Amino acid sequence: MNKKAPPREPKISIEHVYKIFGEDPQSVLERVKAGADKREILEETGHVIGIRDISLKIAPGETFVVMGLSGSGKSTLIRHINRLIDPTAGRILIDGDDVLTLDEKQLRELRRHKISMVFQRFALLPHKTVLANVMYPLKVSGVADDKAKAAAMEQIETVGLAGYEERYPRHLSGGMQQRVGLARALATSADILLMDEAFSALDPLIRSDMQAQLKELQAKLQKTIVFITHDLDEALRLGDHIAILNDGELRQVGTGEDILLHPADDYVERFVRDVNRGRVVTLASTLREATTLPASELSKARLATLLDGEGVESVVVVDGDNRPVAAVTEHLLYTEREAPESWWNSADNLPTPETARDDQVLSEVLSRYKQNATPLVIVDHNGAVVGKLSPSDALEALTND
Ligand SMILES: Nc1ncnc2c1ncn2[C@@H]1O[C@H](COP(=O)(O)OP(=O)(O)OP(=O)(O)O)[C@@H](O)[C@H]1O
Ligand SMILES: [Mg+2]
Repeated sequence: MNKKAPPREPKISIEHVYKIFGEDPQSVLERVKAGADKREILEETGHVIGIRDISLKIAPGETFVVMGLSGSGKSTLIRHINRLIDPTAGRILIDGDDVLTLDEKQLRELRRHKISMVFQRFALLPHKTVLANVMYPLKVSGVADDKAKAAAMEQIETVGLAGYEERYPRHLSGGMQQRVGLARALATSADILLMDEAFSALDPLIRSDMQAQLKELQAKLQKTIVFITHDLDEALRLGDHIAILNDGELRQVGTGEDILLHPADDYVERFVRDVNRGRVVTLASTLREATTLPASELSKARLATLLDGEGVESVVVVDGDNRPVAAVTEHLLYTEREAPESWWNSADNLPTPETARDDQVLSEVLSRYKQNATPLVIVDHNGAVVGKLSPSDALEALTND
């Protein structure tokens, strides 16, 4: 359900990256490549495997979530992107350029203009005002005062903190401080945003607000965001794609829906077992084929053949563009059996079907079955019929096995 433009060059490409911490990482690399276990390597050599053979492609403009439990290698991975750490093996490309080949000056450029980072603990300067905090990276990179101020004010407004620019961080709640961190990252106009557990320290309600705000911002800004979390709900809410790490290894990468519907292994399956699927699974992936009949061919005999003869549970009558104009069930055929033949020839006499779009998620349509036990007709963005979904299909899709 990725509705992004056709595939472009990845913004960020991570290719077979390994990171081993310790005295002499190269000395154990071959063993790690051959598949030696993390604990075995630690016990026998004192080296820690941070990440192991990670390859990912991150598209421009997407929110890419890296998820995993504590110690799974999330921070290690994200720090490679702005070269806070160098890999033991592998390559990291940004806009096609290998970041390992950058010289000092190019690296500084990369960190100042292309990538900015939002941290878990805000990392604000306590003795500077909100405005000064947001201006800080701009001033460091040599932007003139008035320009820096204008850019900072714009982002302070974007994150909803206008009026607070002369306050100090200690006067702000955690959520507000995190918004300052976000404004600071946005003000640099970097097109890559790295967010390492940026919302994890916030209270649940504030966290949920921040997620909503980030989604809203991102719809406008279309930055490339790499967002780290250990929270599956957050990952599903924010991520166009999600990568799941465990013990430094990539277990699966895909859309939230892919991961819920087709977990790659037992680990991922256990991870996603308790999640509320209704919020993620789309009608497109649960619908069934619908039997359609062009309105021009409508007759009682045709309907009877389909419903009685072929045992179809409902017939969707469509116009010339395959848009639904009526729906007929066997029940209707029975209750209206006294109606004259000609009455059946016009779709106007027949009940209009309940429709839903194929990109809606299950939880958005469940309540519609309360009044109505007939299948919903599922349409695409042009309004054309793509299938149907009965209450029992919907229920089945919600259960986790
Ligand atoms: N500088 C370091 N020196 C030695 N080991 C390290 C270093 N940084 C990370 N590690 C190890 O690498 C592994 C991955 O750590 P990392 O910090 O990337 O995990 P994480 O997924 O970000 O965890 P958390 O959710 O707790 O932040 C861990 O086993 C950790 O102990
Ligand atoms: Mg971390």
